[in-house]
Amino acid sequence: MRKALVAGNWKMNGRIAKNDELVTTVLAGLAEQALTERVDVMVFPPSIYVGQVESLVRGSNVSVGAQNLCEYKDGAYTGELSAGMLVDSGCTAVLVGHSERRALFGDDDARVAAKVKAALDAGLTPVLCLGESLEERDAEKTLAVVTEQFETAVDALDVSEIARIVLAYEPVWAIGTGRTATPEQAQEVHAHLRGLLASRSRELANKVRVLYGGSVNADNAAALFGQPDIDGGLIGGASLKAKDFLTICHAAG
Ligand code: G3P
Repeated sequence: MRKALVAGNWKMNGRIAKNDELVTTVLAGLAEQALTERVDVMVFPPSIYVGQVESLVRGSNVSVGAQNLCEYKDGAYTGELSAGMLVDSGCTAVLVGHSERRALFGDDDARVAAKVKAALDAGLTPVLCLGESLEERDAEKTLAVVTEQFETAVDALDVSEIARIVLAYEPVWAIGTGRTATPEQAQEVHAHLRGLLASRSRELANKVRVLYGGSVNADNAAALFGQPDIDGGLIGGASLKAKDFLTICHAAG
C-alpha cells in the first residue's frame, strides 16, 4: 500500500524568522505524534529559503523541495535555477506544472515535460501538478484536460521514470479560493489518473502517489484523504500555519 504524503507549498511566502518558527513547530509536532512513521512530509519554501529550511529539517524525516526549476542545465540563464543546483542545495523533490506557473509564467505542456525530465535526470522527485479551470469543469472537460496534461508530461518517459513521479490533482478553481472539490469530485479524477497509470502497468498504478491540492484545510482533510485513490495532499495556505498543517498530516496518517 502507498504511504501517505503531505506536502506544503508555501508559494511566495516567508521570512527567515517566521520560517524558523514554522518549521521548528511542525517538526516538534510531528515528532510528538510520531507522524512521519505513517506519513511522508515535504515542505516547498521559496527557493531563496531552501538552504535555511534544509538545515532545519536535516536529520528529520521531513524533506525539502523547490517550487520550480529550469529545464536547462547550468549556463547563461539569468535568474534561473537548474535541477543540479536544487540537488546541491539538499532538495529531494520539485513542483512541476503548478497551475500558477502554467497561467502566469509560461509553463505550457512542452516546458512541463522538459522540466519533469530534467528533474528525473538529476535524481529529484517531480511533483507533477494537473488540474482544470472552472470553465473546463463546467464544460465537462475535466478528465480530458488532466489526461492531456498527464500524457504530454510523461510521453517521453519509460515506466521506471514515471514510477518516480508524484502526481498532484489541483483543480484551478479550488486553489486559494476556499472552495474545495468534494471528496467524490476529487476521487473521480484520482481514479481516472490511476487508470492512466494502470494502462501502462498495474505496478505503476499501485506505486505512484496521487495527491489532492486545492483549499485543503484542517476541517476537510480527513474526508478527502479517506478516498481510496487520494494518497495525501499538496497544501497551500494551510501549510503556513503549523497547527493546521499538523492536523492535516495527522488526517493523512
Ligand atoms: O500547491 C498547492 C496549492 O495550489 C493549493 O493552495 O491555498 O488552495 O491550499 P491552497
